[in-house]
Amino acid sequence: MPARILVARVVPPRVLERLRRHFDVEANADDAIYTPAELVQRLQGKQGALTTGSERIDAKLLAACPELRVVANMAVGYNNFDIPACSAHGVLATNTPDVLTETTADFGFALMMAAARRMAESEHFLRHGEWKKWSWDLLTGSDVHGATLGILGMGRIGQAIARRGALGFGMKVIYHNRSRLAPEVESPLGARWVDKATLLREADHLVLVLPYAAASHHAIGAAELMLMKPTATLTNIARGGIVDDAALAAALRERRIAAAALDVFEGEPAVHPDLLEVPNVVLTPHIASATVATRVAMAELAADNLIAALNGGTPPTPINAAELQQRG
Ligand code: DGY
Repeated sequence: MPARILVARVVPPRVLERLRRHFDVEANADDAIYTPAELVQRLQGKQGALTTGSERIDAKLLAACPELRVVANMAVGYNNFDIPACSAHGVLATNTPDVLTETTADFGFALMMAAARRMAESEHFLRHGEWKKWSWDLLTGSDVHGATLGILGMGRIGQAIARRGALGFGMKVIYHNRSRLAPEVESPLGARWVDKATLLREADHLVLVLPYAAASHHAIGAAELMLMKPTATLTNIARGGIVDDAALAAALRERRIAAAALDVFEGEPAVHPDLLEVPNVVLTPHIASATVATRVAMAELAADNLIAALNGGTPPTPINAAELQQRG
């Protein structure tokens, strides 16, 4: 008998067809976001689930779904999973690293440039018929080439952004990370580890790429924004909650920093109303990994993980395999 799985959101049709060749699949044709109670109900009798960041897999859900063996997130971030609880229930969790690194870095870099060069503000200005004449200081921003790029969270995506900045735009790269990168990774980028306060003080363009966890909640709040240059920009492609959105909106309104670009928000898809009122912020709806090729690759990798895990193979990108092995 094939294993039974839930595909909790709509995925590319060819991936769903592939999953149907291996499993008894319940799909979500409407792409509705299930409430926690609906998710529990739909997971009854299922051994696997393909999830996205919209589905929370926590201790309460796991206790109510005793047959669940694998949860495969179609995202590199997995703050929607309680990993210790998954391990305690013997549930393997997987994610989709690597396949989205370059696409996400492209978008982060584009957002940073859009903030520095005031692209959203300029388009708004033009569309609203405000463009009457050329003037020397019309919508002047700040240079990206040759500027100091600050990266908070220097994992795979942070390093890919650093490569774009250092090698393509002649930027000086500084970063802060829990652990310092090996010299052979730092030196081709000319990247320098600095403490967080130095990063905030020295960056012309600060990009956030760190994972969300309790320790990174409001890593950027009023106090951190006070340290930044008044000409600096801030870009968040990591997760909502890493930035205190209310404090950021106030800093933008008071021009304590020049501009920001945000792809992720606290409580998304809701956006803090103050952010909608300030002109010097570029806002996008969590689409940093959204190219067709990359979204298909993410879904395929999530499927690879489910197929391997439920058919006795080795899942390519497990999160808690070591913990599960330790527990026996
Ligand atoms: C990720 O992969 O974590 C992206 O944010 C998409 O959810």
